Amino acid sequence: MRKNECLLSTSESLELTIRPLVVADLPRMLDIEHQGYSHPWTEGVFLDCFKTSYRLWGACLGHSLVGYAVVAYVLDEVQLMNLCVHPEGRGRGAGRRLLRHLIAEASRESMNQVLLEARLSNSVANKLYRSEGFEEIGRRPRYYPAPSGREDARVMSLLLHP
Ligand SMILES: CC(C)(COP(=O)(O)OP(=O)(O)OC[C@H]1O[C@@H](n2cnc3c(N)ncnc32)[C@H](O)[C@@H]1OP(=O)(O)O)[C@@H](O)C(=O)NCCC(=O)NCCS
Repeated sequence: MRKNECLLSTSESLELTIRPLVVADLPRMLDIEHQGYSHPWTEGVFLDCFKTSYRLWGACLGHSLVGYAVVAYVLDEVQLMNLCVHPEGRGRGAGRRLLRHLIAEASRESMNQVLLEARLSNSVANKLYRSEGFEEIGRRPRYYPAPSGREDARVMSLLLHP
């Protein structure tokens, strides 16, 4: 068993913290990414996000990175590009903490709206987003690759300064 897996299996009492990600986090991010998605981002895609127009937040249990959020800032809008938690770290509030953190930071930086897309079938993510106030504003037909063809995306929005 690898070090991170040991930590996660005994992490009930560890504190959950959020911090900015750095390039040195990439190997762990890629590990989490590959366990989170059927069509994971490549290292190059993540590297492209280490720019001033992006914010990258990591959720840590103790010193172990268990999840991350990647957002792009475009004019007055924030686009949630990626939110992912390691399977062994799920259900402990890391996803919600990351979401709340990126919303608070977007608001602090005077952005007006957070936008995201989610697979229609991703009931966990859809439930999480709705519970934090996101509302559906549209659909993108056949947006995602899927095992049997393509899958629609639900487009959701949260207004920060309505
Ligand atoms: C979506 C995801 C980020 C949630 O992360 P998480 O750390 O498990 O989420 P949390 O523990 O903060 O739980 C948040 C909410 O999600 C829902 N949820 C979490 N696990 C769930 C489960 N097993 N079944 C149903 N709902 C669940 C609940 O509404 C929960 O809120 P609650 O605990 O107050 O009831 C995680 O499942 C993940 O990484 N999935 C793979 C990647 C992905 O789909 N990302 C989203 C792309 S749009």
